[in-house]
Amino acid sequence: MKNIVCLISGRGSNLEAILRAEREQQWAAQLGARVSAVISNRSQAGGLAIAASHGVETHVLAHSAFASREAFDADLAALIDRHDPALVVLAGFMRVLTPAFVARYQGRLINIHPSLLPAFTGLHTHERATEMGVRVHGTTVHFVTGELDAGPIIAQAALAVRPGESADALAARVLTLEHELLPRCIRWILEGSVGLEGQKVISTRIDPALLLRVAA
Ligand code: GAR
Repeated sequence: MKNIVCLISGRGSNLEAILRAEREQQWAAQLGARVSAVISNRSQAGGLAIAASHGVETHVLAHSAFASREAFDADLAALIDRHDPALVVLAGFMRVLTPAFVARYQGRLINIHPSLLPAFTGLHTHERATEMGVRVHGTTVHFVTGELDAGPIIAQAALAVRPGESADALAARVLTLEHELLPRCIRWILEGSVGLEGQKVISTRIDPALLLRVAA
């Protein structure tokens, strides 16, 4: 069985999309994969209840209880490694990770970010996108490197920003794309269609239409 470990900090809608895809699309069963654990750095994260309702093991590792980033990441890695995961998914995990942590999971650590990277790293991406008047916005799934919201891009999904669209409305539409994109990327990696070679994403058998899906 290939294990997936998801790290979250909040609401957990991307986690829910993964768990739903796992169940409905049957790809996880075909690939012999499952989300074996969800770890949150916040005890209040809504995603913990979502995980529990799907019968997935949950853990809270409160970063506030650690004296340093290194100490937190070391315990986090020890917890993750109990599951020997084929893939670690940052599904709304809002912590900068240390270089040692990132190196340990090289090629099997991915993140989803609510912008078309490299534009709008960090927080408040939709507010900044509407303020800047960008015409195209979206979401990116990428392998994680030591830099925040950076690393080799696996796939992106984009939409056209509507005239006068509010940041909240835009956020909701991008979130729908996130929920489509992340489970697909997970499947591609687990089935071996996508991988990391050095700092480059190597891909085969991907429907090119899915790499940049432009929604009206
Ligand atoms: C998502 O929009 C995700 O892309 C973003 O946090 C949100 C989590 O929502 N991640 C980042 O900003 C990472 N830099 P969710 O908890 O409902 O999945």
